[in-house]
Amino acid sequence: MERRQDKLLGIKTTGMRECSGGNVHYNRYEATPYKALDILSENYDFRVTDKFVDFGCGRGRVAFYIHNRFNIPVTGIEADYRTYIEALENRESYCMKTGRAAKNIEIIHGLAQDYEIGNSDNCFYFFNPFSVQIFRRVVQNILRSVGKNKRTVDLILFYPSPEYRDFLDTETPFRVEREILIPGERDEREKFIIYRLHEGDWAA
Ligand SMILES: C[S@@+](CC[C@H](N)C(=O)[O-])C[C@H]1O[C@@H](n2cnc3c(N)ncnc32)[C@H](O)[C@@H]1O
Repeated sequence: MERRQDKLLGIKTTGMRECSGGNVHYNRYEATPYKALDILSENYDFRVTDKFVDFGCGRGRVAFYIHNRFNIPVTGIEADYRTYIEALENRESYCMKTGRAAKNIEIIHGLAQDYEIGNSDNCFYFFNPFSVQIFRRVVQNILRSVGKNKRTVDLILFYPSPEYRDFLDTETPFRVEREILIPGERDEREKFIIYRLHEGDWAA
């Protein structure tokens, strides 16, 4: 199923890989299952004005999937060099397969916590890429950006860790907008949680 879906997008994203460098804060590569992405797409209201950022994009599955389905600009940031190169190769083959231009698909080699949040980035995706200490820094960057350029922003968490949730609930103005469950899924963490910060709720 995963390989078949990959083929439709012209990409190769299956498998796992430890993040190089042995940093205990950086989690391994593993892609969000397509089944979960289908459920997210059916239940989350992506708008043409959205700018989507995947922190720890791996080989880029989520970015290509969202770009293909909603035709919105996507950015992926990946720390592991080999994985980043694979994401670039996937961008090329995705564009060949789908006939789409690469101009709205940005793949960056670097650390999520160093990414300068774009003025109109508003939809931020996390599938457990790193420790809560790094997550905290990324969220602080988002809040700083929202303080400067007021807008409503969402954090989409897949397989959310209790530490991420605890931090967001107790130390930030983000609030749970909704949970999106995966039908038939027994693992209760295998779901999406959308945290939202409404425009005007926060002044940095
Ligand atoms: C669980 S995978 C998620 C992949 C992709 N987002 C998806 O859902 O298909 C997490 C990815 O985050 C990357 N990563 C870990 N720490 C990072 C950091 N500080 N900055 C950027 N990427 C990081 C890992 O190399 C890995 O590819």
